Amino acid sequence: MVRGPSPARGAPPHDAPERPLDEDAPEWPVDERERARRVAGRLRDAEVPDPDTDARLLVRHASPEGLAELVARREAREPLQLILGAVGFRYSDLEVRPGVFIPRPETEVLAGEAIERVGEGAVVVEPCTGSGAVAIAVATESPAGAVHATDSSPHAVDLARRNAAAVGAEISVREGDLLSPLPSALLGRVDVLVANPPYVATAEVAGLEPEVADWDPRDALVSGPTGHEVTDRLIAQGRRWLAPEGWLLLEVAAPRAEATARRAEAAGYEAVGVIEDLTGRERIVRARLRR
Ligand SMILES: C[S@@+](CC[C@H](N)C(=O)[O-])C[C@H]1O[C@@H](n2cnc3c(N)ncnc32)[C@H](O)[C@@H]1O
Repeated sequence: MVRGPSPARGAPPHDAPERPLDEDAPEWPVDERERARRVAGRLRDAEVPDPDTDARLLVRHASPEGLAELVARREAREPLQLILGAVGFRYSDLEVRPGVFIPRPETEVLAGEAIERVGEGAVVVEPCTGSGAVAIAVATESPAGAVHATDSSPHAVDLARRNAAAVGAEISVREGDLLSPLPSALLGRVDVLVANPPYVATAEVAGLEPEVADWDPRDALVSGPTGHEVTDRLIAQGRRWLAPEGWLLLEVAAPRAEATARRAEAAGYEAVGVIEDLTGRERIVRARLRR
């Protein structure tokens, strides 16, 4: 369908520069709220989970000329954060990019649990850092003496370093498997080990929303057949790297939270418990290494 200027608006004055007609561009209402309502309707039709919020943010972010393209991307279920290029995480605005896991609101609770346990000069380690969100929050909101992050993805390591530099957070980011890139001098000296690792079981991928399944990197999501593979490794490695009475904090899949807590207890941790996220789902396992 050709969507040119409506006859009601009249023809442009003769001396106005001739503007090329973009045949695919819809005519957006001039009023911003009306524009957002129109966009929300389209997003609702595309089964986007929170169409009103996304429409408001898209309309605020896009020029009227650029809006159609951004709406089409969201209709195709590209994550809003990638379209906007940024996400707010606690007190920082972080860059996000395709190929690196997008930080989620529930992980702000994990970061908060870590921050609460960080004393003056404490050593904090965050394997699986992704965009650096948790490590940056700890470095900027706590009196930590050192914050070390790792990720197996070079794209994540690059983005975490960029994000840390952009907000002036002092963290070291190393590429590699879980805790193995850390200097061995830290063995037995880590006060807080905090991680949001891959915890989806292979068979669960089919049930994920398109924003997650199609856009988050598979290695960031999937742990293995049971979903416990990476958390089990972190529980085991924590026993070598944590200082006596150091805390292990793990974000996990809600249905596996209790089982993960029992695994930490069986591995010899104490004060083991499960903490709920902002939506009341069991999401974080906390465990303290015995003295
Ligand atoms: C669920 S994402 C979490 C990212 C970030 N911590 C957050 O909460 O936004 C998991 C991250 O772990 C990384 N990862 C997966 N396996 C890893 C491993 N064996 N060692 C280190 N990082 C790993 C992925 O590249 C991804 O960035």
